[in-house]
Amino acid sequence: MIEFQTILEVVTDFYSKATFDFLIGYQFRKIEDFDSHLPRIASFWELQLNGKITNREHLPFKLIEVHSPLKIKRGELGRWVTLFQETLESSVNKGLITKDQSEVWMEKIKFFENKLYQRLIQQGER
Ligand code: HEM
Repeated sequence: MIEFQTILEVVTDFYSKATFDFLIGYQFRKIEDFDSHLPRIASFWELQLNGKITNREHLPFKLIEVHSPLKIKRGELGRWVTLFQETLESSVNKGLITKDQSEVWMEKIKFFENKLYQRLIQQGER
């Protein structure tokens, strides 16, 4: 279990990197209401990591529908995953989460990477 507050901290850290990233930053600068976006993303990860969700008003998540119009490229997906991995590593170094927790989190990321890859990218690049 990882506390919601801790998840929110990790997610906030990720987005502060992602927003200014040379490769994928432009995608995140499209988001109009970042203040409500971050708790929503944190809730998504709370559900994935803890199997429960504190703020039920964030349900349902529409992963495919939300990412579909972004026309994400293969390299952008890879970059997203690298940035998240780096964020998890620095969170471990800061003592925010344990190594085990970062590994569990990374496995979930691989699952969604694969899912987004199959549903959003493969068709376009075939
Ligand atoms: C493993 C990969 C990824 C995961 C798990 C993930 C997760 C999420 C989640 C949970 C949401 C909110 C969904 C909802 O509101 O129902 C979201 C929104 C968003 N994601 Fe991702 N994402 C991934 C990859 C990417 C990539 C590669 C990009 C762009 C390069 C991206 C850009 C965005 C943007 C711009 C939004 C906000 C869309 C909007 O609210 O209008 N995501 N993502």
